Amino acid sequence: MRAESTIVKRIAKGLTALALVGIAAGCSQEDGATGSQRVADVSGGGQMSVMATREIYLRSCHSCHGSGVSGAPRTGDTAAWAPRLAKGMDTLVANAINGYQAMPPRGLCFDCSEAQFADLIRYMANSPVD
Ligand code: HEC
Repeated sequence: MRAESTIVKRIAKGLTALALVGIAAGCSQEDGATGSQRVADVSGGGQMSVMATREIYLRSCHSCHGSGVSGAPRTGDTAAWAPRLAKGMDTLVANAINGYQAMPPRGLCFDCSEAQFADLIRYMANSPVD
């Protein structure tokens, strides 16, 4: 009898610990959602905020895509981007990472992730200004 009630107590303790872990996890998820300002689907499912995208764009892509150096499709030039977008985002991201003709590999952003390249491409293809 005694042994049984100890086991019951242990199980109860375990459950309490699990519940606490669950609450803690719930809290941190909530913090993450309110702490970052992710932009909801402005231009097709962005991973970064527009400000973060613009910051990387200015640092890495603007020098060529702002002015159209060597035939780079200009930012905001929807006609220039339309045939590029028609290739599909996966191809464009791969070409941005591997380089494509006069476009240098990774477009000078060596720490950009695939998702960030996709955001940068959407930014350039949709942004009304450079
Ligand atoms: C040194 C200049 C230069 C920089 C910097 C640059 N690009 Fe480019 N990019 C080009 C040129 C030139 C082309 C056009 C290549 C062609 O079609 O001949 C191009 C084309 C592209 C294309 C279209 C590829 C395709 O398949 O049609 C994408 C996507 C692209 N760039 C993304 C980026 C991104 C993202 C950045 C910044 C992280 C960036 N580029 C930075 C020069 C540059």
